[in-house]
Amino acid sequence: MGNAKKYIVGNWKSNKNSGEVEVWFKQFARLFQESRTKFDNLEIAVCSPYIYLPLVGKLQKEYNLPIKIGAQDVSPFPNGAYTGAVSASQIAEFAQYVIIGHSERRLNFHEDDKELSEKVKRAKEQNLGVIFCIQNQNTFVPQDVQIIAYEPVWAIGTGKTDTPENADKVAAIVKEKYPDAVLLYGGSVSSENVQNFLKTAHIDGVLPGGASLDPQKFWEIVVNASKI
Ligand code: PGA
Repeated sequence: MGNAKKYIVGNWKSNKNSGEVEVWFKQFARLFQESRTKFDNLEIAVCSPYIYLPLVGKLQKEYNLPIKIGAQDVSPFPNGAYTGAVSASQIAEFAQYVIIGHSERRLNFHEDDKELSEKVKRAKEQNLGVIFCIQNQNTFVPQDVQIIAYEPVWAIGTGKTDTPENADKVAAIVKEKYPDAVLLYGGSVSSENVQNFLKTAHIDGVLPGGASLDPQKFWEIVVNASKI
């Protein structure tokens, strides 16, 4: 990817209340301002629960932080009579990215390839950047996905990562099939291991979950990533 930006995408999952979101931003902004660094070589994003997207947007503006905002899922339907669903056009009011096909959605919400393809379509109609999660090199990927995140299920939230060598091998195979996609690794990413993944030939970024909940830990991932 040469000089292309490295992606650091935090996935808060179903965590935090509004007070905790405010504290996260206050602390992250302080670290950011103290460092006086712009991190022009990084694309930093935080994916929050739907309900906090407006708050995250407000805080991002207030603190003038160069970070993008993402949702963690999207309805497979457009606006309309779909009780409880949040549509792509609603998300696009507040966010630039959306995670689709996370293994936790596949497992707990029984999302299949057909539904995931609809979600990607809806997101693309609204120009949302799709971060599509795959569990291995054979996972089906819908058309025109811009960002693919390789996340082996056994590495998520366990403190056990895939080896950078194997993750890079998977990334290389996926990139053969989808040459235009940006490739992320996710699964127990931390400030200690982020550089090992970003140093590989085919991995363009990381998707930390647990480590993104703590602003200090997320910050350290950002700083270490910026040095690659
Ligand atoms: P983890 O989560 O960093 O806590 O392992 C990653 C993810 O599920 O996206």
